[in-house]
Amino acid sequence: MNVYDSARMADVLAPLGYRPVEAPEGADMVILNTCHIREKASEKVFSELGRLRQEKNRQAADEDGRRMIIAVAGCVAQAEGEEIMARAPFVDMVFGPQTYHQLPEMVARASRAAGERVLNTDFPIESKFDHLPGESASAGVSTFLSVQEGCDKFCTFCVVPYTRGAEFSRPAAQIIAEARRMVAGGTREITLLGQNVNAFHGEGRGGVTWGLARLIRELAEIDGLERIRYTTSHPRDMDDDLIAAHGEVPQLMPFVHLPVQSGSDRILAAMNRKHTADDYRRVIDRMRAARHDLALSSDFIVGFPGERDADFAETLRLVTDIGYAQAYSFKYSARPGTPAAGLGDAQVPEDVKDDRLATLQNLLNAQQVSFNEACVGTVLPVLLDKTGRRPGQLMGRSPFMQSVPVIAPGRLAGTVVDVRITAARANSLAGELVLADGLTSAAPPIDFPTPPAWEATA
Ligand code: 5AD
Ligand code: SF4
Repeated sequence: MNVYDSARMADVLAPLGYRPVEAPEGADMVILNTCHIREKASEKVFSELGRLRQEKNRQAADEDGRRMIIAVAGCVAQAEGEEIMARAPFVDMVFGPQTYHQLPEMVARASRAAGERVLNTDFPIESKFDHLPGESASAGVSTFLSVQEGCDKFCTFCVVPYTRGAEFSRPAAQIIAEARRMVAGGTREITLLGQNVNAFHGEGRGGVTWGLARLIRELAEIDGLERIRYTTSHPRDMDDDLIAAHGEVPQLMPFVHLPVQSGSDRILAAMNRKHTADDYRRVIDRMRAARHDLALSSDFIVGFPGERDADFAETLRLVTDIGYAQAYSFKYSARPGTPAAGLGDAQVPEDVKDDRLATLQNLLNAQQVSFNEACVGTVLPVLLDKTGRRPGQLMGRSPFMQSVPVIAPGRLAGTVVDVRITAARANSLAGELVLADGLTSAAPPIDFPTPPAWEATA
């Protein structure tokens, strides 16, 4: 979502004459768009700021006496705005994730020769989405589109409900219009974004509320939009219609990130996840019944306060039961202001967290490798979305988000092609183009992959 937000900030700043550059050296303004979700992410902010301060000091002031504007945006700004203002006097602007449509006004204030410092961590009544300009035409072959923000779930470890605020869904008409503009500009794949995206409940036509499935079905009507994904979801919000959509909407990709965090019911309850491990297993069973080739990804936290060996063993059991194509796992870190941060005595020692993380990641990595290996010999539809590092190479994505570099003519960029998978690596697949015009004669016969539902995406 920060990638999406950064792109929107660039759109807001474009009419003021700003354009993105590759490096801070010589820039007129640097915005650090920050993440507060885990301790590690937010620690980076102050070290990064130290480096920017040196760059600012190196710059000669212009004739009005101004130097580079340094801004901190995002959730660290929201949560620690006052502290940043106090600790880093060289920072000119600090603003939270709900205020960046007000950037022109903030920049005007910070650019005055007098050098006003701006702190803006409001949750404005008006939605930023009603005040943002149309996004830039070059949205990219694969693009994010924010449809829902904030969260009312209040998992006890999580800062999101405090930094991003209450749950909010954009009106469907606004989303569809944005998607149409993206597709007209060359986008072929849209990933619908939200902290709790499957809790989406936006206003649809005739004032009726639409869920995520309805929104996806409408987006699937857009000519030229080949792929739809959504992230991140909560198991509790995986409703019947969304599960059914996985079997019915061919553009909806068979890869879902559905975080479970832990396999222990005791820990899930302490986390306030509002479901058990078996509830999660049942949701996955139903999703796989709707779409046989569905691949899954998840987030896990090890060392949540009070987690015992037996709880961790339940997590390993759940991972073994589900079989993930990919996953993210983290050591629990206490986040200021969250209920779990107050569970002082129950904190798990760092070395225990390290051991559990290593064990879990070994298992998850092994699952990822075997998932990738199972793709070898199959033909997968690959969306070519970028140029590759080697000459003549394009980078693509399989339906399951695996990265697939292929040697292919540049004119195929932005299209979905069939690729015969020849080898699996830990984080990518190797493959050869099949059935592209001009190459058909040399192409080996197509093996349709098993399970047969893979054909549906071809
Ligand atoms: N400690 C560790 N991991 C966390 N996450 C969220 N909060 C914390 C925390 N306090 C992880 C969860 C979430 C992902 C985005 O970050 O797994 O799904
Ligand atoms: Fe955080 Fe996700 Fe829980 Fe919301 S559902 S509180 S975003 S972990």
